[in-house]
Amino acid sequence: MEKVKTAEASKTQQVHIVFTEDINGIGRLFGGRLVEWMDILAAVVARRHSECEVTTVSIDKVDFAAPAMLNDTVLLEGMLESVGNTSMRVNITAYVEKLNGERIMINSAKFVMVAMDEKGVPTRVPRLY
Ligand SMILES: CC(C)(COP(=O)(O)OP(=O)(O)OC[C@H]1O[C@@H](n2cnc3c(N)ncnc32)[C@H](O)[C@@H]1OP(=O)(O)O)[C@@H](O)C(=O)NCCC(=O)NCCS
Repeated sequence: MEKVKTAEASKTQQVHIVFTEDINGIGRLFGGRLVEWMDILAAVVARRHSECEVTTVSIDKVDFAAPAMLNDTVLLEGMLESVGNTSMRVNITAYVEKLNGERIMINSAKFVMVAMDEKGVPTRVPRLY
């Protein structure tokens, strides 16, 4: 019988403080750095679901809704949306978290991750409950 797991089981959060090396020429968090953080988070969600090594095959609909600035706390949340045979679609949402706990959504994107066996061949992932 095929393994079945919930999206809740692989849900993952990641937190950063924006440092000077993360800033672009106009004083905002560099978009490429944010996408790097999001990609790592998507990989961890996909690893937790598949229990395999994974690779990113597609990043879809990356929307930069608002900037993050130097010294901001950036919170990222990743959750599985759906699975195919070997692929997993992971939603990532990024927020600036203010000192009072208020969250401002700054980015959302959909990552498609593929599970691979030890030879790098795509391998079937657990069904989503
Ligand atoms: C990911 C990779 C192993 C897939 O190999 P492949 O021979 O294309 O395998 P398949 O055609 O069987 O595709 C595997 C799954 O990925 C999905 N997929 C492939 N390309 C996709 C794309 N552009 N967008 C969304 N899904 C895609 C397929 O639909 C399939 O899903 P399913 O098994 O759930 O139906 C291969 O494309 C690869 O190594 N790509 C480079 C990945 C990489 O290096 N990423 C790091 C970024 S630099």
